[in-house]
Parts: sequence; C-alpha cells; structure tokens
Amino acid sequence: MPPAVPPQAPPHTGAVSGVLELLAFLRDPGFAGRRFAELGDVFETVLAGQPQVFVRGAGPVAELMTQAAALEGWWPPSVSELLGRNSLANRNGEAHMARRRAVGRLFSAQALKGYAPGIARICDKVASGIAAAPQPLALAEWMRPFAFEVIAEVVLGLSPAGRQGLYEDFEIWTSGLFSLPIAYPTSRLARAKAARRRLISRIHGLLPCLSVLVGACDEAGLPLQDADLADQLLLLLFAGYETTASSLTLLVLLLLQHPSTIPWLQQEVDAVPWPPSGAGLEQLETLPRLNAVIKEVLRLVPPVGGFFRRAIAPVQLGPYTIAAGRVIQVDISATQRDGQVFTEPEAFRPERQLEGPAPGAAYIPFGLAPRVCLGRPLAELELRLLTVRLLQTLRFSLQPDQDLSLDMIPTPRPRSGVLVRAAAKQSAP
Ligand code: HEM
Repeated sequence: MPPAVPPQAPPHTGAVSGVLELLAFLRDPGFAGRRFAELGDVFETVLAGQPQVFVRGAGPVAELMTQAAALEGWWPPSVSELLGRNSLANRNGEAHMARRRAVGRLFSAQALKGYAPGIARICDKVASGIAAAPQPLALAEWMRPFAFEVIAEVVLGLSPAGRQGLYEDFEIWTSGLFSLPIAYPTSRLARAKAARRRLISRIHGLLPCLSVLVGACDEAGLPLQDADLADQLLLLLFAGYETTASSLTLLVLLLLQHPSTIPWLQQEVDAVPWPPSGAGLEQLETLPRLNAVIKEVLRLVPPVGGFFRRAIAPVQLGPYTIAAGRVIQVDISATQRDGQVFTEPEAFRPERQLEGPAPGAAYIPFGLAPRVCLGRPLAELELRLLTVRLLQTLRFSLQPDQDLSLDMIPTPRPRSGVLVRAAAKQSAP
C-alpha cells in the first residue's frame, strides 16, 4: 500500500489576529487580488479572529461546488445578526430549501409578466424626473430609490404610506452590513442594529397588507410565523435593491466611459416598443447587444463580490485539504477576471458576451446552486427595462473631475455617485 499522503493546508498569509487584515479587506479593493497573485488561487488568512479560505477561478470554484454536500451557508456574525436568525440566508438544509420554494414563487415567469407594466411606469417616472432635475445630478441617487420602489411597490405591493420610513432605515441598515464589527453607540453597526429593530417593528405592522408574500408561503405549504415572514421580507427588500441599484449605476457609467458602445446599443434599443408587453417583453430577453452589455457589467463589476460557505466536512481543492469548520469565501470578482478564460479581463468589452457563454463556473454573478440568486429574473428585467428607457429618452454626459473610485462594500459604488448631465431627447418613442 502506498504511504498515506498527509493533508496539505492552503498557503497562509501569516496573519494571526487578523485585525489589520479585516481593515484591509473592508477598505482595499485590491486586497484579495494581491494575495491571490502571491499565494495562488486558494489561500488562507484570518479576518478579525476568523480563519478564512479564499478561492478564485473557474476550476477551483467548480471543484468546490461538486462538494456542495460538504458545505453550508455562512455569514459573518454581525451580518447574520442584521439579517435575522429566521432569514433564509441564515438557514440550511430543508429549512432553507422550503423557504426558497416559497419566496421563489414571487419570481416565476408568470409573476414577472405581471410586474413589467409597473416597472415600466417607474422607469418613465425616473427618466422624466432625471430630465427635469437640476443638473448635474448624482445618478446613484436615482437608481437606489428606483430599485427600492420596484421591490417594495411592484413586487411586495406596499403602499406609499407603508413604504414611508422604510427606505431611510434601510439605507442605515445597509451601510452597517459588512462594516467593522464594533458596536459602540455611534458605530455603523450599532446604528444598523437600531435600524433593524425599527424596520422589523414596522414590517410587523405591514404584514396584514403583505398578501403576496404570505400567499406565496401558504401556496408552498409553508405558513410561516410572523417573525419568520418579517425576516424573509427584510432579506427581499435588501437583496432586491442594493445589488440592482449598484449595477444600474455602473452600467450607465461604463457606457459613458466607452462612448463607442452607445450608438451600437442605441440602434437596438430604439427599436423596442415602449412600454413593452406580450411578445415585446419576451423580445427583450433575446436582444443580443442589450443583454451583452448587462452581462459584461455584471462580469466586470459584480454587485456581490463574493459569497461564503462553511465546510462541514473536509473539502479537497486541488492539492489542498480544507478542514471541516473552515469558512470559505468564493471570490466572484476575481473569478470573473480570470485571464485564462477572458482575454483582456480588465476591459469592458460587451462584444465578448456575444461569443457564447463562459465555461462552467467562470461567470457566476448570481452565485451557484443551491443558493443561486432567487431574484435573478427580476434583476435582469429591471436592468433591461431601465436601460432601454434611459437610452430612448435621455442623452447623458459625464461630468469631469469627479471621484469615480469605488467603495466596494456592501456593493460597488462610485464615490462621487456618478455625476452626469442629462438632457431629454426630442424624438423619444
Ligand atoms: C444584479 C442583481 C443581483 C445580483 C448580482 C445578485 C447576486 C446574488 C448572489 C451572488 C447570491 C448568492 C449568495 C450566496 O451564495 O450566499 C444571491 C442570493 C440571493 N438573492 Fe440576489 N442578486 C441580485 C438581485 C436580487 C434581487 C432583485 C433579489 C430579490 C428581490 C434577490 C434575492 C436574492 C435572495 C433571496 C438570495 C438568497 C438565496 C439563498 O440563500 O438561497 N437578488 N444574489
């Protein structure tokens, strides 16, 4: 019998307490990239006392996902607490899958058809609001309320009175996610925890009006307690606006930074009947240039930069054994910039997306089974509809001398908010 090979741990950064590592992780967009370059596609470090294995690349991520049975969902304790212990994001096994089945009903093809007219109406409101607003304006400030209104009003059916107050507390709650896990009274985390308490109490008051979510759970044979429903609602409101708003802002920015893509896309977009319905709506899903632009934005600057799992049994990645109990962070951003899969991976080149799908786990902006994004169809519909309407009705120019560097957490946001001038087109369809 050949001698047993001892398990080999991944290369380590040498961090011990991980305090400086956490600060660098939260503040430095190049944090993981530099360590991957030095240590390879799988390395281990410590973030504030928590050992974590980082993984990037189509090969290692695919290998990891073939071992899904040895993995469970995990979030940093402060994030987990803000999401709430009932949240499906914090559940595993059948408790997770049952909630996915229930919440997933809100994003069926049939449900999406029903949402489209409402989303188109909000697109019109945003486009005319931008045209009439004092110029220049920060685009991000229009995209965030847009995405919030879609999920709160169109999907969940909250009335303007019901939505009032939620948005402000959401902004506070969101900015505490992935902040430093220190809860002194004025810290972001402490303010986010207080915002969560207010949000949950407000959501409890709204539950009698939330027939959509309650109905979806009942239909799925999963009548949930109020505390459970409130946590699912909080997750949906968060997941439903932060990510989409980030992508919308970056989409317009990337187009403006690559002006030759605008006439190329414009040609296709101008032919879309507005508001699209029936066959026109289905046609949106097949427009090659529009979809290539959206896919390329989600590749280059994915709104969710990575996701976590915890090994509940040893996991093998190439030569390395990840011990049970270790937290693993799959780096979506680094994986989608894999130079072995994408030529000029740092470049915004929508045409590359016309060459066919990237292999395996090379392109994973919406994550992977069994926790793949539930709201993907809604996010894609919003991205398509708002892009079409903005390009049909407005002409944008980017203001010079602004700070377009990105705050990465919780989702990528250009620090200036993307200052633009926007003028209404005379000949909009
Ligand atoms: C461009 C927009 C979006 C992107 C890139 C995105 C990305 C992701 C990713 C990467 C995950 C997996 C996280 C993990 O594995 O732990 C995820 C999960 C999730 N997303 Fe999205 N998302 C987007 C929009 C939305 C929207 C609009 C909604 C719904 C309103 C939504 C609802 C969810 C939910 C409920 C989960 C948890 C799934 C689970 O744990 O089983 N997302 N999303």
